[in-house]
Amino acid sequence: MADCPQMPLLPTTSQATLRGCASLSVNSKNVFICSYPKSGTTWMQNIVYTLATNGRELDHISKYAPFFESDRSWSHTDDGSEIAEIHRICHREIGWRIFNTHLYWTMMPRNGDARYIYVVRNGKDVCNSYYHHFTHMTIEDGGTDLSFDDYFQEWIKGNLTYGKWTDHLKSWMEAFDDPRVLVVSYESLKSDLRSALLAINAHCNFGLSEADIDILIPRFSFKYMKENVHKFNPIFFKWVDKGDGFEFVRKGVVGDHRTIFTEEHSKLFDEMVKESFPHGIPNALSTYPYLFN
Ligand code: PPS
Repeated sequence: MADCPQMPLLPTTSQATLRGCASLSVNSKNVFICSYPKSGTTWMQNIVYTLATNGRELDHISKYAPFFESDRSWSHTDDGSEIAEIHRICHREIGWRIFNTHLYWTMMPRNGDARYIYVVRNGKDVCNSYYHHFTHMTIEDGGTDLSFDDYFQEWIKGNLTYGKWTDHLKSWMEAFDDPRVLVVSYESLKSDLRSALLAINAHCNFGLSEADIDILIPRFSFKYMKENVHKFNPIFFKWVDKGDGFEFVRKGVVGDHRTIFTEEHSKLFDEMVKESFPHGIPNALSTYPYLFN
């Protein structure tokens, strides 16, 4: 743990949980969905669960693909730490252990042949989605009533939960050559979902045929997930109803930051990217130029 970069975490992530996360024994039947918040995590949780189980019905995604670094996902005793019983039971039912996490690569368990899917998304869209999320959460749960401009100043400095977006990319970039890691962008899920599903199926060895996957595709649409938002809504947060129709599965649009970013916000974003990568966008990220548009 000594080499873990610092980042602001949620109050529900204790040091005991972080230690449990880093030292969990993992194997090839374990899949970690990893991301900076608001990058398409829940979409990927649904994809991984549905492919892993070949379309098993779902009551709630958090039971089968729990939030790795939440204290609620763990049982800590004097004898040590283990995954909470509810998730151990659910994972046994499906024969796979699936987790979602926003931790850095250096904070992950890397002692075995687990599979990691790192989901990336355009930084401005992430910031926009994050703002809508936080302004609809209660203050006790960590929500905010800041204006977008005030929120943006904090986000761009990395002062908000999970820190700076580019620090997250930097941490995971180190792992892009690791065969256990598959990088999938939100934008590629939007533009060519089928190819992404085939890649995920192969990476995780789910063993589905192309015909099996074709049958499952409707379960991944934005429309399906919005109509079934009760299966995907985070269960432990309380939302504030501002009468504007906000839902956790919100809008699902590439480029939606344009509804809220001014030219000044875009300029500050570009400066932050330049400062983070003074020698230009690193090769590892050059396949995804649209992350920085
Ligand atoms: S979280 O809170 O970190 O777990 O959020 P996360 O799941 O990473 O990201 C939420 C955004 O993903 C959108 N979403 C989808 N987009 C397209 N298709 C599907 N099926 C889908 N499901 C969720 C969700 O609407 C959030 O993006 P915004 O831009 O806010 O709509």
